[in-house]
Amino acid sequence: TRPASDTTRAITFTLDGETVTAGPGETLLQVARRQGQALPTLCHQPGYRPAGNCRACMVEIEGERVLAPACVRQPSPGMVVHSTSGRAARARRMVLELLQSDMPAAARTPDNELQQWCDRLGVDAPRFPARSQPAPDASHPAMSVRLDACIQCTRCLRACREEQANDVIGMAHRGDRTAVVFDLADPMGRSSCVACGECVQACPTGALLPAGDRPPEAPDRRVDSV
Ligand code: FES
Repeated sequence: TRPASDTTRAITFTLDGETVTAGPGETLLQVARRQGQALPTLCHQPGYRPAGNCRACMVEIEGERVLAPACVRQPSPGMVVHSTSGRAARARRMVLELLQSDMPAAARTPDNELQQWCDRLGVDAPRFPARSQPAPDASHPAMSVRLDACIQCTRCLRACREEQANDVIGMAHRGDRTAVVFDLADPMGRSSCVACGECVQACPTGALLPAGDRPPEAPDRRVDSV
């Protein structure tokens, strides 16, 4: 059983061989970044409720078989954490490569956060074929939707639900059919979206963009695996 974290007082633990202190409620990510570690994050958005779903920020904790997402995990006293171990670094690179494998070439723009992390960590063109993806949705007058660039980080969902209290965006289906939907899987232009733009601001990959900002189609390396 995982020991409960104490969110009311500072905690001393070991990170990459250094004795460090986490403030009350701080996550491993917050401490690692303060220590200068450039852990990739995609679903993490300061100010939003943590989701811990992209797994880009995984670290190794001694005594635990499974790697832990640093953005949601809090330290416990005496914990020994490795953010730079070969196992943790390989896992993070694999996560980025898998996420990138579904990303169409046209979406890999310099402001795409996934692409930025891939470039920064030297993750090259993915070795894995892309899954077939939904067609673009241009039904909204103010926003364009390209769910083939979506990594399902749920930042848009949290922006819509928690920042704006609109609750237009949700997740539907299961497994590799899981997808962002608007209301009851309506085209965005026919949903109850009020065009506040919070989801566009939150999206790390350009799956949601202002209408007209969509870059021209580039040759696409995707293969139809169906
Ligand atoms: Fe930690 Fe996504 S940033 S799981």
